[in-house]
This record gives sequence, structure tokens and C-alpha cells, in this order.
Amino acid sequence: MWFGKEKSILGIDIGTQAIKMVQLRSEDYLLETYGIVDLIEPITNQTKPEVISQTIDLLRTLTEKAHATTKRCALSLPNSAVFTSVIDMPKMTDAELEQSMKFEAKKYVPLPFEEVSLSWSLISEDPNTNTMKVLLIAVPKQIRDTYIHIFEKAGLELEVIEIEALALIRTLVQDKSKNDVIIDIGAKVTGINFVKQGLLQLTRNLNLGGDTITEKIAQTLNLAPARAEQFKRDFGLNSTEFLPEAGKPVLTTIRSEIKQVLDIYKSHQVQIDRIVLVGGGAQMPGLQEYFAELAPEVIYGNSISKLSYPKEVEPVLKRFSMQLPVAVGLALRQTE
Ligand SMILES: Nc1ncnc2c1ncn2[C@@H]1O[C@H](COP(=O)(O)OP(=O)(O)OP(=O)(O)O)[C@@H](O)[C@H]1O
Ligand SMILES: [Mg+2]
Repeated sequence: MWFGKEKSILGIDIGTQAIKMVQLRSEDYLLETYGIVDLIEPITNQTKPEVISQTIDLLRTLTEKAHATTKRCALSLPNSAVFTSVIDMPKMTDAELEQSMKFEAKKYVPLPFEEVSLSWSLISEDPNTNTMKVLLIAVPKQIRDTYIHIFEKAGLELEVIEIEALALIRTLVQDKSKNDVIIDIGAKVTGINFVKQGLLQLTRNLNLGGDTITEKIAQTLNLAPARAEQFKRDFGLNSTEFLPEAGKPVLTTIRSEIKQVLDIYKSHQVQIDRIVLVGGGAQMPGLQEYFAELAPEVIYGNSISKLSYPKEVEPVLKRFSMQLPVAVGLALRQTE
């Protein structure tokens, strides 16, 4: 017994397409259960009440069906709902930082100040230059309140809300002496996260992802969306002649954005060791090869490498590995 204190935690990643959930036991990262369910509609500023109640039902059903045994949750908001920025600042006190962050937020956040909830955290300090890197996070209050309401109604205890990038780092960074770029290709958003020696340096979100590729394929080849989606999953960038052309404009945008980020770091003599691909959209066949020229190593992220789990579920877990890293990282947070 843990003196009545629950030792397990649910990591819940609500994306634009699906909710992913994992339950980890704190003491040994044992994966106790997990589940994925498709959303009907993503949560936005304009979400209708019926979509909110459907989401509550989905969340409740998901936890029940997966036999989750704890109510304690860590949640991430989709990248599309959050403004994040890593800002270089001169070293200062907490009080000074508070003032500065409010000022910086006005520059970075394209929403009225009263409508956002601000937070920040220190990433690193450099005593040589007397500077520090600070992660600024701004969430529209309305969206944050909607999520709090959803969790309350689903009977869950929301302990913490975090951004996806930090959860990804916790799950995917293996070697803290190396520099990684974690690329998360979701349904509607692609997150590019530059991580130097385990610390987030820059996070950039592009408003395109797997669904955008499907839409392009459907348009170009005049296919129904479901068939275009199947084509994408079956062939991706391999085998057919015409498919690569249809999906390419989206991938070219992602690749040139990554390249831009890499060039900035190269100009500061920072080399990238690996690109780590995650997100449902990164499962499109041929993507690893497509990004190969950008880094010495391009790998698919492994969401389960830090977890223990019954051997017999390994094949199924591997199938979902690309979609689970955010949920896993959220649950790992509570075990730190
Ligand atoms: N086997 C597959 N091959 C290619 N693409 C796939 C495959 N399975 C899922 N996808 C794509 O993955 C995307 C969904 O990914 P994911 O679940 O990571 O999104 P999300 O986290 O809900 O969205 P976002 O991060 O944009 O909020 C969809 O665009 C879907 O078409
Ligand atoms: Mg996602």
C-alpha cells in the first residue's frame, strides 16, 4: 500500500483527430492500460455544446472500456490550440521575468491579453553569457476552461496541463548528449521540435498534416476522401508513380521548414544527430527515406522503450507506438 496515495496516472492526449490515453504505474512505468478513440470534431474556440458533450462521453467510455483504475490525469492540449515560444532572455529575477513575459506575450500571441492564460518555465541558463532560455506558453482561456469542464464532467481529476513538446521529449529523448529534432505529423498540425541535449530549444507548428495530404491526394486524383486515405496508407511515397506528386506539396513544405530550422542551428555550430518521426501521419510509407538527407539518422519514435509491459501485448503496442508518445510522456511526468 502507498498510504492511500494512488500510484498510477493517466496521460491523455486530445488531438484534432483522436484521443490517446495511457495509464502508467509510477514506481516502474508499468503500462497498465491504454486506448485510442477517434474524435467527432476537434475542440476549438467555437465548439458547439453538443460536440463538448460527445467528447465527454468519448472520454468516459474510453477510460471505462480500458478499465482505467485511476482518475488522476495529465493532459496535453493540441498544438493548434496553444501558442508556444522559446525566448532568449538576459538572466533576471522571478519578479522581473513575470513582467518581461507579459511584455513578450504581447509580441508573440495574436490574441487580446485578457483572453489568454499565460505560463512560462525556465529551460536553461548559460552562466557564460548570463542569459537564459524561457518557454512561454499561452492558452486561450476559453479553450482551457472547456477542457477543464470536459474532464470534470467525465469524472476525471485534471492535475496538470502541459504542451505536447515537453511530453514528447520525456518519451523520446534517449541520450541527453545528443541533439534531436522531433517531428510530430498529426492530422491537421505538424510540430517541429528542436531539442538540444534533452532541452527544448524551439517549437514550431505548421497548420498541415496527414489530413492535408489526404485532401491533396483526393483533389489531385479525384478520389473520395476515404479512398484517398487508404491510398496514402497503403502506398505513401512508395511504389506508385502518381501518388508522390499528389502529396508532395505538403511534404515539401514540412521538409523545407525543418531545413530552415536546421540551417539556423548550423549557423550557430550546432549539429543535429537525429530526426525522430512520430504522429499518425508519419506512418505514411516512404517518409523516413524522404527526410533521410536532413540528418545523419532518421528514426521512427519508440513510445514504449521506457515502459515495462506484458510481453504478449508488444506487437499491438508497436502498432500504436507512433500515436502514443504524447500520452506516454504525460504519464511519465507524474512519475518523475
Ligand atoms: N497507417 C497510416 N499511414 C499514414 N497515415 C496515417 C496512418 N494512420 C493514421 N494516419 C494519419 O495520421 C493522422 C492522425 O494522426 P494523429 O493521431 O497523430 O493526429 P492527432 O494527434 O489527433 O492530430 P493533431 O496532432 O493534428 O492534433 C491522420 O491524418 C491519418 O490520416
Ligand atoms: Mg497529435
